[in-house]
Amino acid sequence: MELPYFEPYKIKMVESITKSTRSEREKWIREASWNLFNLRSEQVVIDLLTDSGTGAMSDRQWSQMMLGDESYAGASSYYKLRDAIKDITGFGHFLPTHQGRAAENVLFSVLVKNGDLVPGNSHFDTTKGHIEFRHATAVDCTIGEASQINSYYPFKGNVDTEKLESVLKNNSREKISCIVITITNNTAGGQPVSMANLREVRSLADKYGIPVVLDSARFAENAYFIKTREEGYSGKTIIEIAREMFSYADAMTMSSKKDAIVNMGGFIAFRDEELFRRATTYNIIYEGFITYGGMSGRDMNALAQGLYEGTDQDYLRSRIGQVAFLAERIRSFGIPIIEPAGGHAVFIDATGFLPHIPREEFTAQTLAAEVYLEGGVRSAEIGTLMADRDPVSRENRYPKLELLRLAVPRRVYTSSHMEYVAATVGNVFLNRNKISRGFKITYEAPILRHFTVALERL
Ligand code: F0G
Repeated sequence: MELPYFEPYKIKMVESITKSTRSEREKWIREASWNLFNLRSEQVVIDLLTDSGTGAMSDRQWSQMMLGDESYAGASSYYKLRDAIKDITGFGHFLPTHQGRAAENVLFSVLVKNGDLVPGNSHFDTTKGHIEFRHATAVDCTIGEASQINSYYPFKGNVDTEKLESVLKNNSREKISCIVITITNNTAGGQPVSMANLREVRSLADKYGIPVVLDSARFAENAYFIKTREEGYSGKTIIEIAREMFSYADAMTMSSKKDAIVNMGGFIAFRDEELFRRATTYNIIYEGFITYGGMSGRDMNALAQGLYEGTDQDYLRSRIGQVAFLAERIRSFGIPIIEPAGGHAVFIDATGFLPHIPREEFTAQTLAAEVYLEGGVRSAEIGTLMADRDPVSRENRYPKLELLRLAVPRRVYTSSHMEYVAATVGNVFLNRNKISRGFKITYEAPILRHFTVALERL
């Protein structure tokens, strides 16, 4: 018998989970205006709101924290991180930032101007926010398969290169800031982008003279999918695959809170020294001096170590295996999910789950509330609330898919926790016909409204 895989680590320290009853949760979620971001963590049993900054650091990362060099300039921690980034990505220049969106802010301060277009594959909401904040437009060129729930296409995060080329061809070079490719494609369900697709994007970028930026929060998971799904890569290491992926880009933004398994941190890395120099000025203004920009020395040390742990093949196998396990359990109830399961999360098709709740009443948010009430499981709406209003017409935007995301933190939960989550979602599914209405908005911010929205039950 082939021995099964297992998590390549054991647990040295544990954190208690606070249990709660349904009636307690009913009170809490009402007090939270039905916005799950407003809940206190003790009011949550299993927290699948995000896989960002919620991972468990290893004993080696904690040891690195003790070795942090907190010098304002020239800290050894900066050089340690620089060497790790160079080794894994091949980029020779980098700027630390406090998280991924800060990296976007700094880089887009150089690249994106009023009236520009930024084509890519389903930009993440903060990425889109930074683009729209500069009165530029994010153009989604993701392949059509991404919006077909049941298509088993192995690289549903890919860019539709014909769509991309028509944007590049029909607009002047000056109007296109850069192409942003998100690996994996979070918004489309944590779906990977193939190496072949990255190569094609590179050749279009060269043809039209446009820089390529990889939004790399989950680059290691993307590399694992390439290794296991794309021909010619099974014998390569994750780091070899990562280096090739980055070789097709001019720069990368990184939210280190995901695949680098730290609780806070980010960076921008560049090939071109001139672009690095221009970004440096903004980094100093917004983040901090070149050799710490938004991070303490100890955090840079933990990040350098985390980049290696996050690209370990055995770790990635158990990580992506755990998400696939949760998907399999949820699927067994007949619940529609994005197939195949993504790298960091299971995405439930909320319109398939609750077809009788109109999208005007925020179907995925309705499902998020019910899943919380049933088992205290916190998830995230990736649907009409998050899609926000069109910046010009101020009308609600209805994305192609109305999804509920169950994002799995790294190295935090066990299979029993996943069984509990699946049973919670399964119970809601069995009783779905008792859910009759959704929500209306009573407060919303002008941008990124989902974080602070207040809702009322209809
Ligand atoms: N890019 C992607 C693809 C992301 O998923 C995120 C964050 C960011 C950039 C921004 O990074 O949070 O460090 O500022 N995603 C989190 C999530 C918040 O829940 O998916 P950040």
